[in-house]
Amino acid sequence: MATTSSLSVFGFKLKLCLALLACVIGATSAELNTTQLNTTFYDKTCPGALDVIKKAVKEAVKNESRMGASLLRLHFHDCFVQGCDASVLLDDTDNFTGEKNSFPNANSLRGFEVIDNIKSKLEKMCKGTVSCADILAVAARDSVFELGGPKWEVPLGRRDSTTASLAESNSDLPAPTFDLDDLIRAFHEKNFTVKELVTLSGGHSIGLVRCRFFRTRIYNDSDINQKFAKERQVECPFEGGDNNFSAFDSATPFKLDNSFYKNLLQQKGLVHSDQQLFTNNSTDKTTKNQVISYSRDMGQFKKDFADAMLKMSIITPLTGSAGQIRQNCRLVNPPST
Ligand code: HEM
Ligand SMILES: *[C@@H]1O[C@H](CO)[C@@H](O)[C@H](O)[C@H]1NC(C)=O
Ligand SMILES: *[C@@H]1O[C@H](CO)[C@@H](O)[C@H](O)[C@H]1NC(C)=O
Ligand SMILES: *[C@@H]1O[C@H](CO)[C@@H](O)[C@H](O)[C@H]1NC(C)=O
Ligand SMILES: *[C@@H]1O[C@H](CO)[C@@H](O)[C@H](O)[C@H]1NC(C)=O
Ligand SMILES: *[C@@H]1O[C@H](CO)[C@@H](O)[C@H](O)[C@H]1NC(C)=O
Ligand SMILES: *[C@@H]1O[C@H](CO)[C@@H](O)[C@H](O)[C@H]1NC(C)=O
Ligand SMILES: *[C@@H]1O[C@H](CO)[C@@H](O)[C@H](O)[C@H]1NC(C)=O
Ligand SMILES: *[C@@H]1O[C@H](CO)[C@@H](O)[C@H](O)[C@H]1NC(C)=O
Ligand SMILES: *[C@@H]1O[C@H](CO)[C@@H](O)[C@H](O)[C@H]1NC(C)=O
Repeated sequence: MATTSSLSVFGFKLKLCLALLACVIGATSAELNTTQLNTTFYDKTCPGALDVIKKAVKEAVKNESRMGASLLRLHFHDCFVQGCDASVLLDDTDNFTGEKNSFPNANSLRGFEVIDNIKSKLEKMCKGTVSCADILAVAARDSVFELGGPKWEVPLGRRDSTTASLAESNSDLPAPTFDLDDLIRAFHEKNFTVKELVTLSGGHSIGLVRCRFFRTRIYNDSDINQKFAKERQVECPFEGGDNNFSAFDSATPFKLDNSFYKNLLQQKGLVHSDQQLFTNNSTDKTTKNQVISYSRDMGQFKKDFADAMLKMSIITPLTGSAGQIRQNCRLVNPPST
């Protein structure tokens, strides 16, 4: 098992590999697989693909800013379950159980229609070529950029799974009730460092969360700003209103910036797990110090966010002849006749 520092070294090596488009390093199979992705994958086979995705994301976000947040979260929930293989997009059918009804996903994930729309455009343009997993990765990148965040080059060539895992979706995605140790464990399972946990949590700089997920915090937690708690209690009554929404970051709800971290300093994190990053001293204050650092340095946050997103986007992809290119992102291809 690699240590924290060698993992970040690996992150660097990987980027170098992508830049040079060829490299032979003493790599494990996982590392080799990620180097099978490259940023020019569709340049010959579907040259307009990235423009189509960018344009569709831009329109969807312009119509509804929240969609940018929803698309970012879709990619996260894809990659943390079986890797970035579009398993999250598969519908339940009579003979197939997908991930859409897991506890973290049910009545919560959104953005599927935007992905469907992009996919149908790409199928018309270059049939059977662009994977749903790549669409998710690029749409997340474009969403973040549309909402004022950083931009990064997305390595491409992921293939789509023919399987999904309801069980892993329930076990591998972190929950808002988590304490710091649980969060660290969940991210470590995916080979992320404690620092990267803090960085990726900045995804909660955009988007909405339902009352049911922050009720205990605003009524019972002690590490919360009282004025802030009272305001949120109006939207989230002690009983009822489970599905009422509130912004994660009430300062700038749809701007991918560092105000999420500034909020934590003032005990204005809306979910228990996010506030843990600042409150909890159990890592010799590693996470607390990282939160303080990001609250002061927007540029560093954005740079680190781009790096961590890139790393998330290459979690155990299917490549080569593994998996398939789905025709419809919601369904495994019918067996060829
Ligand atoms: C650290 C552990 C995490 C926990 C416990 C967590 C939990 C949650 C919860 C409970 C919601 C609201 C769901 C609902 O109300 O239906 C949510 C929404 C969201 N999460 Fe996370 N999340 C985590 C990490 C992340 C990461 C790493 C990202 C992306 C980099 C992310 C991006 C988002 C976004 C953008 C939304 C809002 C989606 C929308 O408005 O449609 N989250 N998360
Ligand atoms: C990108 O990867 C694909 C599949 O591994 C490969 O066919 C293609 O030649 C690569 N492109 C470059 C520029 O290396
Ligand atoms: C625009 O956003 C609204 C929600 O704000 C949604 O109901 C509608 O379907 C969206 N329209 C398009 C064209 O995406
Ligand atoms: C599942 O059922 C559908 C019809 O409902 C059928 O088209 C498909 O081939 C079946 N898939 C499998 C894997 O049996
Ligand atoms: C800090 O985290 C530990 C382990 O995750 C947990 O047991 C403890 O209750 C947390 N402390 C506070 C003050 O939240
Ligand atoms: C984490 O790293 C180990 C060792 O390199 C690898 O076997 C495993 O597949 C990685 N897990 C993920 C989720 O990337
Ligand atoms: C707050 O804590 C009390 C006592 O432990 C409990 O009865 C109550 O249900 C909790 N309230 C919420 C909203 O979680
Ligand atoms: C939240 O839910 C409650 C109970 O369903 C409702 O009365 C209230 O108007 C809602 N508040 C907001 C701000 O939507
Ligand atoms: C964390 O440490 C600080 C002192 O550095 C202390 O004031 C604070 O109470 C501690 N927090 C918890 C939850 O133990
Ligand atoms: C690497 O890719 C091969 C096929 O390209 C696949 O069989 C194997 O499972 C992949 N390994 C990992 C760790 O993703």
